[in-house]
Amino acid sequence: MNQLRRLGQTDLYLSPLGLGTWQYSTKDTNKNSMWGSTETETVYEIIKYSLQHGMNWIDTAEIYGNGTSEAFIGEVTQRLKHERMLATQPLIASKWFPLARSASSIKNTIDERLTYLQVPTIDLYQIHQPTSRSPLRKQIEAMVSIAEKNKIKQIGVSNFSAKQMIKAHQLLKEYGMTLASNQVKYNLLHRNPEKNGTLDAAKELGITIIAYSPLQQGLLTGRFHEHPEALAKISRFRKLQSSLTSRTLKKTEPLYKELKRIALNYDKSISQIALNWLINAQGDTVLAIPGASKLQQAQENVGTLNFELSRKDIARLNDISQNLK
Ligand SMILES: NC(=O)c1ccc[n+]([C@@H]2O[C@H](COP(=O)([O-])OP(=O)(O)OC[C@H]3O[C@@H](n4cnc5c(N)ncnc54)[C@H](OP(=O)(O)O)[C@@H]3O)[C@@H](O)[C@H]2O)c1
Repeated sequence: MNQLRRLGQTDLYLSPLGLGTWQYSTKDTNKNSMWGSTETETVYEIIKYSLQHGMNWIDTAEIYGNGTSEAFIGEVTQRLKHERMLATQPLIASKWFPLARSASSIKNTIDERLTYLQVPTIDLYQIHQPTSRSPLRKQIEAMVSIAEKNKIKQIGVSNFSAKQMIKAHQLLKEYGMTLASNQVKYNLLHRNPEKNGTLDAAKELGITIIAYSPLQQGLLTGRFHEHPEALAKISRFRKLQSSLTSRTLKKTEPLYKELKRIALNYDKSISQIALNWLINAQGDTVLAIPGASKLQQAQENVGTLNFELSRKDIARLNDISQNLK
């Protein structure tokens, strides 16, 4: 159920689900090729509902609209604070974008992150992906130096292989810290972290795995199986990223049917079953960050926190998703 889980070996405790916010990369009327634009009031309602119903953290990144997503979060959380809508302040995770940049930009851009987010410190700051102009040691040094200034609390990485993750962890140990998390793509249709050693290494070292695209960008909600014509409205990049094609719908039909059967048994939705598998199949190691562009999606996703799949159903989903032809 929704008991807070320790983030890596840190003193932070997170709900099994956090809110993903890549969706809020474009404000109001501007168009965004990946997700379309988001209304400020919708973001407000989604964040309010999610935080009032069991989530205690939000994940964002510098690269999501060049600070737009972070600014949305800053604006909404301040508004909720003034309206006294929240029992506690949410924890914030953000990410530095390393591509074609050197480690010095970590120190040069952190104040902008804090300004957008309207917080004095970021709870979890992640290196968004492993490619940078500077070696990992330099990046870790820069992350540690902003941690020493209390601008960030804990350090994580994203899209790191098992080997890269272990190296980041070892480097941090030299500074008396540990690697809190590795954010990777993980869901019932993308189980690579189980095969490429990332999950095993994370369990061994006490590093949390944060699963992104936990619903395979909508495929694991059943909505495209039920309305294949809706695929036509999805951006090309998203289709490519999540293999949103009619061929995939056909291939994944057995999983869709099983998710639907289990959902009926629990009186839950398909997306709730898919998310529940993700946060319960691997003990406490995996947290997930579903994105939502509509309030109803956020309501549904947060409802995942109120139940737990049986070991038998988890095993059944393991089996079917592994054997899709
Ligand atoms: N670290 C990284 O490199 C990385 C990469 C990707 C994502 N992320 C993070 O992970 C978060 C989640 O990943 P994601 O956005 O790629 O994929 P996702 O969470 O699997 O899918 C989100 C999309 O699925 C649809 N959806 C969500 N809940 C639904 C529901 N209950 N019923 C029907 N449809 C639903 C919505 O599509 P519509 O908007 O079309 O309705 C929503 O925008 C992102 O917001 C971002 O914070 C990180």
